[in-house]
Amino acid sequence: MLSEIFLTPIGRGARLSCASALRPIAGQYLLAHAEGTHQVLPAALFVRAADGMDLVIAPPVPEDWLPGTEIYLRGPLGNGFHPPIAVRHMVLADLSGHQGQRLLKLVSDAADTSMETVLLSDSAPADLPLEIEFLPLKAFNEVLAWADYLAVEMGLQQMNLLRELSGVQTNRDFHSAFEVLVDTPLICGGIASCGVCSVRVNNHWQLACKDGPVFRLSHLSEDE
Ligand code: FES
Repeated sequence: MLSEIFLTPIGRGARLSCASALRPIAGQYLLAHAEGTHQVLPAALFVRAADGMDLVIAPPVPEDWLPGTEIYLRGPLGNGFHPPIAVRHMVLADLSGHQGQRLLKLVSDAADTSMETVLLSDSAPADLPLEIEFLPLKAFNEVLAWADYLAVEMGLQQMNLLRELSGVQTNRDFHSAFEVLVDTPLICGGIASCGVCSVRVNNHWQLACKDGPVFRLSHLSEDE
């Protein structure tokens, strides 16, 4: 059940009280359908934090969801982030306008509490934990030299921008551990094979809803 709605500059976030503990890793998603609304297609939800049986959902959630609405969830679905075990310097970069909210669970999932984290984005969430340093996207290239792991969220149309910010010529030049959450519609979760989420990976088509939405940056094909 949806227990709380909170407002942010990028839309409404939500807290869900679940009947059973769901534990998607960062980058995985849940497909959600709300009872008694006009929702036709399921909404893909990304968990920002888990608290007991409660899930904090990163904004935006559908506008007509209200506290008390029953939400039916399917998942966790897809491939999430898999950072190396020993990460000392983690960089989260959001080119998608989501303030890094879909990436922040990487920090709470990390085993090493001494890890240092920088978030690069257009703007910061109001409740960004103090231990995460916020910097604007123009600092990207400088911070990348410090990172041993990078997690990006972006649309495929921003691939050129990411290469430019990173100072690399081709996707193969990205460190093999660096990963990207592709911001794309995730409608059917692979059940209907609608193809709306297709991504070229190593010169083959893959489905972001099933094979992603997280991929290795160095595996994305150049024509993306
Ligand atoms: S959303 Fe339909 S195949 Fe991916």
